[in-house]
Amino acid sequence: MHEHTERLHSTAQAMVAPPRGILAADESPGTMNKRLEKVGVEPTPEARRDYREMLLTTPGLSESASGIILADETFNQELSDGRTVPEACKDAGVLPGIKVDTGAKPLAFSPGETVTEGLDGLRDRFTDYAKRGAAFAKWRAALALDAELPSERAVLVNAHALGRYAALSQEAGIVPIVEPELLMDGDHDLDRCAEATAYVLDVVFMSLVAQGVDLAGIVLKPNMIVAGAKCATQPSVEEAAAATVRVLSEHVPKEVPGIAFLSGGQPPEQATAHLAAMASLSAPWELSFSFGRALVDPALKVWAGDPDRWKDGQAALDVRVRANAAARAS
Ligand code: G3H
Repeated sequence: MHEHTERLHSTAQAMVAPPRGILAADESPGTMNKRLEKVGVEPTPEARRDYREMLLTTPGLSESASGIILADETFNQELSDGRTVPEACKDAGVLPGIKVDTGAKPLAFSPGETVTEGLDGLRDRFTDYAKRGAAFAKWRAALALDAELPSERAVLVNAHALGRYAALSQEAGIVPIVEPELLMDGDHDLDRCAEATAYVLDVVFMSLVAQGVDLAGIVLKPNMIVAGAKCATQPSVEEAAAATVRVLSEHVPKEVPGIAFLSGGQPPEQATAHLAAMASLSAPWELSFSFGRALVDPALKVWAGDPDRWKDGQAALDVRVRANAAARAS
């Protein structure tokens, strides 16, 4: 096998190898600012750096995290001891990943829907990130979900962008995390989420294959199949886990080495319970986690910008990452 291909495959496998998961700490500066303000921290580049430094230097992080997804700003920052963030990732034993999309923007002629941007100049950005040690990348398509949405148009344009991104990422020797996320804030039920997720996965994989993406060198980051947060009928943890594994088994090719779920706003314990329930079901790929909020929210609240609570914040992160690694093994 070609060396480049082998490296992509082995990196993708390392990202999802049990029991570890991927820490998503790649909020854009705007989103991070809102989260900092919510816990009473003045949102500055230094505060954003301090927060990420707290996460990244958590003792023992590499025992339960294989990688960390970073925003461009963080990737370019130095820690307080002068190390670059990619260097610090290496020292911590976690793979550095970079979010390369530039966010979801309103989609023309599709009220309430978005298309994720960031393709312009992406080849050059990938070349630069590869030189600076990025092992993997992330691109998130955000799809509204209700009885009518997502529209065929939103699914097609987002799947096309995911394919273009993933091909450029692999060309640069960087494993693409492919993230088609159906949002869970509506009132849709479990069956509607299952039906829409199946459709989105079919279109996304058609686009990846059409654009030459090597499926053995990606990690898929989908939503779990759950009912919307506002749905009156909430399925049990076991029902959601079974629906998720069933739909993915029917719509995700077996060459994909692993699936690392997003948490999508689920309470941390619930996301972990879903992961544990899935671990007992049989699946052809690794089932892992790449949670953002479900890993970091407790740490952010405990730390709240207070240098004296740095270790408490790290302990809160450690609890959640370890719980999810244990859930994978259950
Ligand atoms: O793109 C979304 C993040 O990488 C995962 O975030 O687990 O908070 O949904 P979340």
